Amino acid sequence: MLAEHSINKKVFDNGFQIAKNAKLASDKYGQEKVINGTLGIFYNDNEEMHTLNIVDSEYRNISDKDIFNYASNIGGEDLFVQAVKEYLFGKNYKQNLENNFLEVIATPGGSGALFNTFKNYVNPGESILLPNYMWSSYKIMSKEVGGEYETYSLFNEKGEFDLINFKKSVIKLAKIQRNLIIVLNNPCHNPTGYTLTLSELKEVMNILKEACSLCNIILINDIAYMDFNNEKNNFTQLYNDIPNNLLVVITFSMSKSLCSYGLRVGAQVAISPSKETIENFSDASLHTCRSIWSNIPKGGMILFSNIILNQKKYSQLLVEQNNMKDMLKNRTDIFLRESIDVNLEILPYKSGFFITIPFHKYSNKEIEERLNFENIFAIILPGAIRLAICSIPKYKIYGLAQKIKNVIS
Ligand SMILES: Cc1ncc(COP(=O)(O)O)c(C=O)c1O
Repeated sequence: MLAEHSINKKVFDNGFQIAKNAKLASDKYGQEKVINGTLGIFYNDNEEMHTLNIVDSEYRNISDKDIFNYASNIGGEDLFVQAVKEYLFGKNYKQNLENNFLEVIATPGGSGALFNTFKNYVNPGESILLPNYMWSSYKIMSKEVGGEYETYSLFNEKGEFDLINFKKSVIKLAKIQRNLIIVLNNPCHNPTGYTLTLSELKEVMNILKEACSLCNIILINDIAYMDFNNEKNNFTQLYNDIPNNLLVVITFSMSKSLCSYGLRVGAQVAISPSKETIENFSDASLHTCRSIWSNIPKGGMILFSNIILNQKKYSQLLVEQNNMKDMLKNRTDIFLRESIDVNLEILPYKSGFFITIPFHKYSNKEIEERLNFENIFAIILPGAIRLAICSIPKYKIYGLAQKIKNVIS
């Protein structure tokens, strides 16, 4: 019955099932006995899903009409588009991005932004270049748009971004494809928590500029976790001097930054020195929006612009985001310190929602069972455990490194 291109589609994303198992264990043994590090949702230290006061109060102030009506544009409310530009590049975004054209298209979350970009830039059968540790949706999206994927390895033996492998992987595909989409999930990479240094980022841009002599390059920078970076973000200084056939698409999401996962608000943010490239981006993206979801929730967009474009509310948002960052840092400091004490290997972590712990002894299934036996719930990646430290309260972090060490040894 299915159309040919839809046969053999199955989502192997067991995160929500593991989260259900964690809930069952909590009901059986008591919540205080269970460590639920499964989903990328921020929980406070009382183990309640965290929300932000400024977001909550602003949401309740939105008029019924703005909540229930269609958005005024397929590409997003004008003020939302303005707010996204200011949020990422500052009030002086025009000067900060001089020599480039900039376009924002509203999408349902970062997922919609990624999908739209995959959809319009991969030619049939071409491979998208993804990191070897990754958010699994990238693979599902690649298949959905008729593409394949290959991976670059993230780290060298020194635990730095593996620029040599990155370059090799880019050039290999650039030699045989017309378009090459490359996904960088930076800062606060999911699942490792790695953030590239400025000099690594500059080197990445140099490699991509070089590859532009071989094919068109589309760099997607997925910034879903940008507000949990312990360093200051600077999204402007890398894009001077980019060739006409290098398109940068930053995929923005409100989900984690504003603790508003279910509102489904995000955006594609395209940057290029070529006016034509940006006009084509806009036409194709709007076409895809119209054909799949038409427009996204007006209330969510108004919520965002009401906060970001108002100095006082924006300052309150920053205070509340910093509070979340502090909570997260307290937890990760404990876990990282104890990991050193008990000699637990972890992949290079800098900041963000997740920590990844490789294992070498048991199969994935065995590790899942051994963790669950200890009432620890986390996503099992091939050969590694992804621990969502964002959802584990501080008091449960003490001793966790030792417990995981026992499970994998
Ligand atoms: C790496 C990464 N990118 C993008 C997203 C997109 O989230 P959303 O579609 O809710 O904006 C997520 C969500 O978990 C993620 O982990």
